[in-house]
Amino acid sequence: MTTPAPAARATPSAPAIEAENLVKKFGDFTAVDGISFSVPTGSVLGLLGPNGSGKTTTIRMMTTLSPPTSGTARVAGYDVLRRPAEVRKAMGLTAQSATVDELLTGRENLRLIGDLYGLPKKSVKARADELLDRFSLTDAATKVAKSYSGGMRRRLDLAASLVAAPPVLFLDEPTTGLDPRSRNELWDVLRDLVRDGTTLLLTTQYLDEADQLADNVIVIDHGKVIAEGTPLQLKDRSGAASLVITVSRPEDVDGAARVLAGRIEEYHVDHDSRRITAPSEGVSALAGIASAFSEAGIELDDIGLQRPSLDDVFLSLTGRRAEEPEADASNVGDGRDETTEQEQRA
Ligand SMILES: Nc1ncnc2c1ncn2[C@@H]1O[C@H](COP(=O)(O)OP(=O)(O)OP(=O)(O)O)[C@@H](O)[C@H]1O
Ligand SMILES: [Mg+2]
Repeated sequence: MTTPAPAARATPSAPAIEAENLVKKFGDFTAVDGISFSVPTGSVLGLLGPNGSGKTTTIRMMTTLSPPTSGTARVAGYDVLRRPAEVRKAMGLTAQSATVDELLTGRENLRLIGDLYGLPKKSVKARADELLDRFSLTDAATKVAKSYSGGMRRRLDLAASLVAAPPVLFLDEPTTGLDPRSRNELWDVLRDLVRDGTTLLLTTQYLDEADQLADNVIVIDHGKVIAEGTPLQLKDRSGAASLVITVSRPEDVDGAARVLAGRIEEYHVDHDSRRITAPSEGVSALAGIASAFSEAGIELDDIGLQRPSLDDVFLSLTGRRAEEPEADASNVGDGRDETTEQEQRA
């Protein structure tokens, strides 16, 4: 074969990020309850969970912002408690809430961070401009961050965490609140970073985001890991694919259901979307069903098998949708002050 080898990924060496039995208690409340994971260098771990499941708390422990109550965490081989300075040098963090200075321009924000890192003046300037370019912010470089749209803000946040070119990046809900186009753009940037060898840990409530980006996913709920695997493994676990049929003409929907009735025991009809879904019986059954429709003169917009989404996975694991808050779940605002944390070390 003469196909060129794909760009080599970072060698499968030591994990870039590791957590062992991490616990975080706030008073009597256990926010993170014994979480362990390991992220190989150059790969992406998605930390998936609904509001209040412990994602941000985990990120804060991993990034030295909040000491674990018990357990250990290492970033780039450095223990977060014993070598916090080295950990900070090796990592970048895009927090859940925006961290840029509203009153500074995009360019000023990036330069400020470079200065804070003590990078040489000349390379700070070059780095800031390179990042502005990479994140399509060059045109907005001289505007104050306050005037940025949500998507631009998020891109500036991410750029800010990359000023020091860290090999390990933590992203807390990087695309929450973005429109689909901005999300897609940000995903592309993240894919580029990973291709260049960055190790990523990202939290998300969007199951399709983990699906798009993550090599491995851990699903957490109430501070505990309730499932882990590749996105594909998690989907397979939640059951078979479904057969999804979209009928072209609304007046054919009932006729289509009659065609199915003789062949499939259980199906669901949604008149509004002209869609019929049923548990799949495989590709060969699909072919038979498709020809039965054409014999009956029923036109279809689409017929195919749909893998379960990670949303379905969460539902099958917890009995509720990830976006659905539990009745008693109170969402914590982002304005938490680090210094007010009632931290308890065992
Ligand atoms: N400083 C704190 N003091 C007391 N309780 C806290 C503190 N920080 C977090 N918690 C609690 O810990 C739990 C986990 O919170 P965390 O912010 O880690 O969740 P999350 O998964 O990031 O949620 P979200 O999706 O809303 O960002 C929540 O019940 C929260 O109320
Ligand atoms: Mg959070």
